[in-house]
Amino acid sequence: MLILSMFFISIFLYFFYYYCLPFIIWYNEYVKSIYGGNKMKVLVAGGAGYIGSHICVELLQANHEVIVIDDFSNSKPEVLGYIKDITGKDVKFYEFNILDEKKTEQVFIENEIDAVIHCAAFKAVGESVEKPIEYYTNNLTTTLIVAKMMKKYHVNNIVFSSSATVYGDPEVVPLTEDCKLGETTNPYGASKAMMERILTDVQHACPEMSVTLLRYFNPIGAHESGLLGEDPKGIPNNLMPYIMKVAAGELPCLGVFGDDYDTPDGTGVRDYIHVVDLAKGHVLAIEKYNKPGLHVCNLGTGQGYSVLELVHAFERVNGVKVKYEIKPRRAGDIATCYADPTRAKEELGWVATRGIDEMCRDTWNFAKTRMK
Ligand code: UFG
Repeated sequence: MLILSMFFISIFLYFFYYYCLPFIIWYNEYVKSIYGGNKMKVLVAGGAGYIGSHICVELLQANHEVIVIDDFSNSKPEVLGYIKDITGKDVKFYEFNILDEKKTEQVFIENEIDAVIHCAAFKAVGESVEKPIEYYTNNLTTTLIVAKMMKKYHVNNIVFSSSATVYGDPEVVPLTEDCKLGETTNPYGASKAMMERILTDVQHACPEMSVTLLRYFNPIGAHESGLLGEDPKGIPNNLMPYIMKVAAGELPCLGVFGDDYDTPDGTGVRDYIHVVDLAKGHVLAIEKYNKPGLHVCNLGTGQGYSVLELVHAFERVNGVKVKYEIKPRRAGDIATCYADPTRAKEELGWVATRGIDEMCRDTWNFAKTRMK
């Protein structure tokens, strides 16, 4: 009798483990995904900025709740209204610089934050050379304060906006995450490398944390609505906003920095990535890397374009003229930089889907909306 009951129990357990349990787990996940069980409260530090605002849109559209801290040092308050226009949803907003530790702590007290996306930083390469103290103080101290609050309030998931600049002048391209980190050539780049280091050390000291370093290549483009995009204050440092302002007649002529690099047409080659693709990568990172450990991932397309290729694509796609002249090389520039995006595909299921034509079209659409 005993043997017989043990036989039936074993049969029951066998069927339960192999047939019922997987079904129960799948059903749970399914119900969670339908009813928002995976919904997180995400703090986006720097959420009104060019990249931060696109991240907010993608988070809200993926059904997450969003809290933003921004001091509008390189962004405008209208952006928050545009995020609502696009998504139909509000973010919870706090206006201050994260250097204000008391106010930052208050945000952690008031909200049960599940994850942080940290993209609050000064980012103008040229300005960083003029103002190294301001750059190091702002970029490093905000990172330390965010990390301190996360530790204190047991928030264990952070995605950090890093940059391909940490690879320095690459020995080989395409760049994989295992490539050696290089020498940075300006305080902005050095601060990104140091912020990576700080967060890596924090993760070692707090192994329960998930720290993700997303290394962006060259984000350009704008939201297809034309409402969000990059509109830097003053003369742009980066290529695409400069092209946009020349095409719009706000600046007379683009200077192409060097035509004697070892590249097909002599101008610098970069991996331009549409900002919406980049933002979608953050949502996947916050969801899929949400497990203890240090995660490092490139976000790029794997395809390089030269300065002149980008200029000509912009002219062709938008039917406009972009006047340019060749200037000397810019100090600190490298010839070629593009990503190997294999890890993002394998670990996050992420691939860039928007090509150079969409990047040019959406930038111009944003410029036209902005000029109205
Ligand atoms: N360029 C010009 N004229 C300009 C501006 C840029 O010819 O007015 C050229 C540069 O020489 C370079 C290319 O355009 O060959 C791209 O320059 P960007 O300034 O747009 O971008 P960078 O590659 O220098 O740097 C950018 C960001 C960094 C980031 C890096 C990651 O500014 O924050 O991409 O690859 F770290």
